[in-house]
Parts: sequence; structure tokens; C-alpha cells
Amino acid sequence: MAITANEEDDHPNTPTTALLPFNTDSSSALSNRKPATITLIFISLLLSTCIALAAALSFAFLFFRAAASIPTREVARPLGKLKSPVVLLISMDGFRFGYQFKTETPNIHRLIKSGTEAELGLIPVFPSLTFPNHYSIVTGLYPAYHGIVNNFFIDPATGDFFTMASHEPKWWLGEPLWETLSNRGLKASTYFWPGSEVKKGSWDCPNEYCMIYNGSVTFEDRVDSVLRFFDLSSSEIPSFMTLYFEDPDHQGHKFGPDDPRITEAITRVDSMIGRLISGLEERGVFEDVSIILVGDHGMVGTCDKKLIYLDDLEIPKPWIQSYSPLLAIRPPSDHPPKEVVARMNELLKSGSVVNGEYLRVYLKEELPRRLHYAASDRIPPIIGLVEEGFKVEQTRLKRQECGGSHGYDNAVFSMRSVFIAHGPQFGRGRKVPSFENVQIYNLVTSILNIDGAPNNGTESFPLSILLPRH
Ligand SMILES: *[C@@H]1O[C@H](CO)[C@@H](O)[C@H](O)[C@H]1NC(C)=O
Ligand SMILES: *[C@@H]1O[C@H](CO)[C@@H](O)[C@H](O)[C@H]1NC(C)=O
Ligand SMILES: [Zn+2]
Repeated sequence: MAITANEEDDHPNTPTTALLPFNTDSSSALSNRKPATITLIFISLLLSTCIALAAALSFAFLFFRAAASIPTREVARPLGKLKSPVVLLISMDGFRFGYQFKTETPNIHRLIKSGTEAELGLIPVFPSLTFPNHYSIVTGLYPAYHGIVNNFFIDPATGDFFTMASHEPKWWLGEPLWETLSNRGLKASTYFWPGSEVKKGSWDCPNEYCMIYNGSVTFEDRVDSVLRFFDLSSSEIPSFMTLYFEDPDHQGHKFGPDDPRITEAITRVDSMIGRLISGLEERGVFEDVSIILVGDHGMVGTCDKKLIYLDDLEIPKPWIQSYSPLLAIRPPSDHPPKEVVARMNELLKSGSVVNGEYLRVYLKEELPRRLHYAASDRIPPIIGLVEEGFKVEQTRLKRQECGGSHGYDNAVFSMRSVFIAHGPQFGRGRKVPSFENVQIYNLVTSILNIDGAPNNGTESFPLSILLPRH
């Protein structure tokens, strides 16, 4: 009997075996043979199985004997000079996964070779934007829970605007690592990080330990200032430090991810990592410090022929809170979001909207669950997901620009960044599967051996990444 496409039809009279494709042929072939042949085949199969089993057992015996005499399990290395663990968290903004192969990056590769790397990169949270992601890294929370749902947004309760320069604590929910350390009586220092200037709880952004953002400070100065912390007496050295570089995000937006100026920016960032490693080596602490090198998100090339216009979708400008790649719409109260979404999807399906097939519009509650992008009033009721490389604009303009962008669905591979970690509790040359950056909070508190605040990372995650203590 042949297996046809209507396998799903449930015919009660059909014997179930007939549905197994391998059964139909082989059983009929066997049944044509004499019983003696079958017995012979059976005995020889049994014999060869026994031989194979015996061989496997003796190999296993030899292997375990060898393993017993050579310790193969890598354990955490003891601190040499430092009295207690120090974590240095470094962000290279917009360092897309794969940039490390664009050119020679000897310093980054030194960390990879003698440290632990997420083999296929670090997964950002949605939206894959700078402020939401940096703050997820230090709080372990998805943006809906830490409150920074976009680089800019409006609080619907008060009408207040959040911008990247807003430092009032009311915006910044959750407990960032510097606050956690401060709560535990440990010192933290921040050489720039979104949210670090915000005075929250026990963290008051102390003068010498908390730098107010100033993009004109050279990368060299930033590295040298971090190094100077290691010249302090051991009780004064912060247990947790941040360091931030705007590159290569800046070049990525302007020129796209595949431009010689990106390659130059990578070389420069790599040389800063080299400067840092040398400085730590001079101070005899390179092997003691836990360096966690990450980026907030990736980058993808965009061009003005990949555009979707809201004019085509009958959505007026005042309803829009953000265009691209995160389309966020809050219609006025006399336009129920559900009806707006239905109308937009009708237009998108009609074929009348240029590039309409590259935009999907949702009520935020109906977004894929994996995006965790609903549980905040700050998230507008209507969210559009734009396909990788496409942009949304209001009106047709004459300009023809090409550049780069990020903010897309965090499942898009080009949005991934890197996770490279080096230090006493990181295996040498170890590769681990990709994970979301909300896991980093628990990783840091584990290295520092302190309790953290509740967050969206998994409790067991650090065990899967860190070497056992003994
Ligand atoms: C920012 O840094 C530059 C370079 O170090 C410095 O000249 C300038 O005064 C700083 N600006 C502020 C507001 O501190
Ligand atoms: C994320 O963590 C916060 C704080 O613990 C919690 O309220 C929220 O339910 C968590 N969300 C998810 C999706 O795990
Ligand atoms: Zn950016």
C-alpha cells in the first residue's frame, strides 16, 4: 500500500502498520524469504551485536582509567593579587556579532582564546536599541519591567517625555548592579553607562566613582581612568566597574555595517582593549579581574528603497511615538487600538501599500510572547514589527540615503552582539550557546558572591557559564 498525502485521514479499517513507510517494503521483502534464511540473519545480527558490545566496553574501561589519572575538570583559579573579585563590564555600542572577524583584532581574540565566548553571540532584548539593552544588561530585566522601553517615549500618565538625557529616578525602575553593590556595602564605579548617573536608593552617583556622560572624553582617558582604580588600596578598589565606548555604533548608523570606516572603528576599539590588558598586566591583576566584554545590539544596512510610508496606511503623524525600526503608535481615545490595527492590516494585505509585506502590526498584548514587550503602560498600544533592513517613515521624501540601523526583532541574527568573558571563573577557550543579555545580572552577582534583586535571568544560568569554585 502506498503512503499518500492524505495520511491524516483517519480510516478506522486501515491497519496502523501500513502507515509506516519503512514497514511496507521491508516486511514484504522478508516474508518472501524462507524461514531458514531469516534465522541465519538473526543469528549473525546477534553475534555482531555481542562483538560490538564487548569492544565498546573495553574501550570505555581504557578511557576511564586514563581519565582517572589526568584531572580534566577545569575549576576556578584562585585570585593572585586582588583580595576580592572584581568585575569589569565593558560595552562596545553596536558591536555586531561577527565584527570580530572583519579585521585583525588581536586583543579581543586574546580574551576569546583564554576566556569564554557565546559562540554565536549575545542576544539583545527587544527592542534592540541602546538604552533598553544597556539597562537590561545591568538590571537583568526586560524593558517592560525596568521601564526604559525605548530610547525616547512618553509617560501616558503624566505626558512627560523621556529622552536619553533624563536622569530622574522615576523613569529608571529595577535595581541596577551599582545599586545592588551599594546595598551590600560594596563599591562600584561607572565610566559611563545608561542609567548610571541616576541617583537611586543607596546609589548617589558618588563623585570619584561615577562619571557624568561626556562623549568628548577620549577612549584612552576612559581606559586610563579605569586602570587608576587598580592603584588604590585593595579596600578602595571598586568590586564592579563599567566602561563604555560609543563605537562602532556611531559609524554603523552613518555608513552601514559593511564599510571600511566600521573596520577602522573595530581596530580602534580593539586597541583600547589592548591598552586595558597591558595596564592590568603592568599592575599584576590581569588574571584576577573578571572582564565581561559585550555589545548592546548589532547593526544592519538600510537604504531608502526599503521604506514603508505611514501616509499609505492612513496613520497621521501625531499618533506616532516612534517610527523605526520600532513602530509605536498611540491613537487618540476616539480610535480604539483594535480597530486601528484591523484597518492597518487590511491595507497591508490589500497590496496597495508599497513594501507592505515587510511590516506586521500588533496590539502589544498580541505580540509574540518571546518579545516580553507588553507589561508596561509606557509601551504604546500598537506596535509594528519591521523586517530586517526596512524602515518606516511618514511621507515620501526625495532623499536617498543608505546607512545602518538596529531595533528590530531580537530574533534577527544581525541584531546580535558579542559576549566574551575572561577571568578566574571563566573556562579557557570555552564556547557556550547564545543567551539573552538579561542573564548577565545574575552572572555578575554570582562572581561577586552576593545576592541580587529579583530579575528575568534564570537562577541556574551562572552555573552553566562559570567554573566551579573547587
Ligand atoms: C568633556 O570632556 C572634554 C574632554 O575631556 C572636556 O574638555 C570638557 O570640558 C568636558 N565637558 C564637560 C561638560 O565636562
Ligand atoms: C521579570 O521580573 C520581574 C521582577 O522580578 C517580574 O515581576 C516579571 O514577572 C518577570 N517577567 C518575566 C516575563 O519573567
Ligand atoms: Zn545605535
